[in-house]
Amino acid sequence: MAINAPEGTKDLLPNEALFWTQFQAKAGEVFGRYGYAPIATPIVEQTDLFVRGIGEATDVVSKEMFTALSGENLKRLLEGGKVKSKSRLSLRPEGTAGVVRAVVQHDLVPQGSAPAKLWYAGPMFRAERPQKGRQRQFHQVGVECLGAEAPTIDAEAIIMLMRFFAEVGIPADAMTLLINSMGCESCRPAYRDAVKAYMDQHADELCETCLTRAQVNPLRAFDCKNADCAAVMEGAPRITDHLCPDCKEHYAQVKALLDAAGVNYTEDSKLVRGLDYYTRTVFEVQVDNGLGSQNAIGGGGRYDKLAEEVGGRNTPGLGFALGYERCVLALEAAGVEMPQAGGCDLFVAFVEQAGQAPAFNVVQQVRDAGFSAEMDHQGRSVKSQFKLANKLGARYVITLGPDELAAGKATLRNMQTHEEVEVPLDQVPENL
Ligand code: HAM
Repeated sequence: MAINAPEGTKDLLPNEALFWTQFQAKAGEVFGRYGYAPIATPIVEQTDLFVRGIGEATDVVSKEMFTALSGENLKRLLEGGKVKSKSRLSLRPEGTAGVVRAVVQHDLVPQGSAPAKLWYAGPMFRAERPQKGRQRQFHQVGVECLGAEAPTIDAEAIIMLMRFFAEVGIPADAMTLLINSMGCESCRPAYRDAVKAYMDQHADELCETCLTRAQVNPLRAFDCKNADCAAVMEGAPRITDHLCPDCKEHYAQVKALLDAAGVNYTEDSKLVRGLDYYTRTVFEVQVDNGLGSQNAIGGGGRYDKLAEEVGGRNTPGLGFALGYERCVLALEAAGVEMPQAGGCDLFVAFVEQAGQAPAFNVVQQVRDAGFSAEMDHQGRSVKSQFKLANKLGARYVITLGPDELAAGKATLRNMQTHEEVEVPLDQVPENL
């Protein structure tokens, strides 16, 4: 039986892989204008990094992580033995924890230095139930800025995210930017207690999962998809009424900067995001078209305690990530055309076997001159070589028959205008 790609994973076939490459190049170009440099971290990290960084009680860590084991450790586990915590590895479910780990490990933000502004792109893995816009291996482009807590960093990143979406072609009117503040370690505990007390009062109206959430992490209940829970949580205390003066001021400044930049946003005090590291600003971009319930194309926020959580010194941070596959769905829904891989400037056809080597030679010359060129490699008839040239979308075609070989010249045919010019065989690139 043929073996297919694992459930929830997808091959990026040539056109898709080409767009993914262009998408990353665009990210590098746009983010580079804001001072972000590329970074690439391993796809596997110690499991503890995600447990400590993202939070043990989050769905991502408690239910969706793929564990990676070496053959030796798998054997040890199956035989009832233990695996050292350092050898417990997981495929990364997101990029932030790994980047922050790298920043701490390599001391990329020494005291007094400018913030480290980093961007990355690559596959992420979450063992979720696959559906449209939700995969087990998906691709993210993300940024992280470490070492600055000023609200200008928050506003700049949000503006940059919207700029990127605009430049890849997602229509502005298809997107809604939601923002909120999650408070900090001084105001959030009291808020969490207030939400818990409210949930306790409404315990008989909540689902089993939310009853557990009330004990472990009550704010997660704002994300519950159950309609009854959603109705209850509508009436829950709002974080924006519980922010300390510093968080209130930070949030006000972020909004003022977005207003001044003409960025439209909707405040959503129920936006809590699915990862535990957030403090203060959080944001998410949703699209109304084509994605159903998986409608978030990107999101992020501030995480001022994460560096300490993974063993570093106090280093404020902020970042976002966007989902490549969901962006593609949003672009398709907006009718944006995807690029086509391939393309061919010149196709060299040959009539007899004696023409094969000269054709091969012309093709190499043309490629060396920076054009794309192709020829037949399968013994096709001249007629089917022309068909192939058409299929490849060749701009020009040359046919090498006995007369052309004898004269050392050939006719270069422009496939669009049907114009023909005679060119010496050693001067083909000059005539393209
Ligand atoms: P996130 O909201 O979990 O945030 O993921 C960011 C984006 O990745 C989502 O908005 C969505 O477009 C895409 N995504 C997430 N899960 C899937 C999936 N199963 N299938 C397809 N696409 C998916 C983070 O990952 C944070 N690290 C963002 C961040 C960076 N916060 C601060 N810095």
